[in-house]
Amino acid sequence: MTTDAELLAAVGRLAARLLRSEGSEPVRAAWPATEVESALGLALPAQGRPAGEVLASVAALLEAAPAMAGPRFWNQLFGGRDLVATAADMLASVANHSLYTYRAAGPLVVVEQLVLARMAALAGFDAGEGTICPGGSVSNLCAVVIARGEAIAASREEGVDGRACRIYASAEAHYSVRKAAMTAGLGRNGCRDIPCDAQGRMDPTALDAALTEDRAAGLTPVLVAATAGTTVRGAFDPLPAIADVCARHGVWLHVDAAFGGAMLLSAQTRGLLAGVERADSLTWDAHKVMGVPLLCSALLMRRRGHLAAQLGETADYLFQCDDAELNPGTRALQCGRRDDALKLWALWQHQGDAGLAARVETLRAQALRLSDLASAHPRLQLAEAPPSLTVCLRTPGADAAAVCDLLAAERRQLVGHGLIGGERIVRVAIVDPSHDEAALHALINDIDDATQRLALGPPQTWARLAGHSGGLS
Ligand SMILES: Cc1ncc(COP(=O)(O)O)c(C=O)c1O
Repeated sequence: MTTDAELLAAVGRLAARLLRSEGSEPVRAAWPATEVESALGLALPAQGRPAGEVLASVAALLEAAPAMAGPRFWNQLFGGRDLVATAADMLASVANHSLYTYRAAGPLVVVEQLVLARMAALAGFDAGEGTICPGGSVSNLCAVVIARGEAIAASREEGVDGRACRIYASAEAHYSVRKAAMTAGLGRNGCRDIPCDAQGRMDPTALDAALTEDRAAGLTPVLVAATAGTTVRGAFDPLPAIADVCARHGVWLHVDAAFGGAMLLSAQTRGLLAGVERADSLTWDAHKVMGVPLLCSALLMRRRGHLAAQLGETADYLFQCDDAELNPGTRALQCGRRDDALKLWALWQHQGDAGLAARVETLRAQALRLSDLASAHPRLQLAEAPPSLTVCLRTPGADAAAVCDLLAAERRQLVGHGLIGGERIVRVAIVDPSHDEAALHALINDIDDATQRLALGPPQTWARLAGHSGGLS
């Protein structure tokens, strides 16, 4: 019989083993999905198994999955690991609070308010508020729902005729904005793409024209979603000009800074978000550039009151005591809400403002270094100077997708690809500060090597291999 203490000690040992395996085997063999269930013994049993045995299976399973926190991972907008934040997250799971009321979560509510207030202040929302959502997509959805309620007063009670409403985002915005339009009853067609300039930034003149045209057609503009840090190119939409357009048309300005929000942490990079203080709402994912484990997304509001007005409900079985201020469930989309603030607070305690600023500066320096290596390279090409933390590379003579697949199949690097102006490029996400000079060189060399071999004319075995973790997000 295993005691609780023995079990938890085993968790520590297994976690340490997991970390070691990421070091020794940074790109693991990809399992064909059809073989996984039998090969890894996943079938659900009729009779239970001993706790220690189940934990060993869990660890084995995690070691069979792609090492998304490992040293060769450049494929998503999160990567690496801050062990203090990870440990805080593990402890939060042990305690298992729901952050809907002060009665349920006590001081943890104050912790959440504290980190949200700090993030809001960094955005220039000194009189603002916020809520932590399970991911940037949900933060963006909440922003659309709130803006819909502000634009069309009756919508909260009666819903909307989605065909009469529009939201606006650049053609390079994240797909979650379109999904939010769909979920909020506007339909996917309710999201209008605004063209970008050559650097992938929303064109404010085109936005102005679209708003004028839609108003003249009797449509109601609900929200403009500017992006601060686009998913592929890391581009920042021109917020001051977009804020001017929104002010002229009286439209809610949301900034999707799921990726780029962390640039506010350093004086060296915060200029990228100049004008953000004029936004009505802001999405900032702490689980991306800041290094907090998934998920932790802040939805920040410039003014207080909108969250409760648009997302609040009464529930006599839940909100029974305390000031509503201390019951964050009155300002959230969810009822049960995991404590995703504690790990962010723990990270901030450990790093301090200075450590977080240094993290962002290190990442930016790595992005510039990688772009220098690419520009100086005799064969690879830098697609454009990196605006922030993604570096986009051309692989002349080879399809960038095939390069990424080959690197994954040969278990060398996990890196993704995307499109810039219709051209497929390798996109390297620089979000793990533990990547050193050697790691950057190895990445460039591996991309070059795969490109050269594919350019020579791929043998059958170079054909697209199943199992690569796939697309960008
Ligand atoms: C710009 C942008 N917004 C929103 C999201 C969605 O974030 P999440 O994956 O946390 O839902 C992403 C994800 O990569 C993103 O790049």
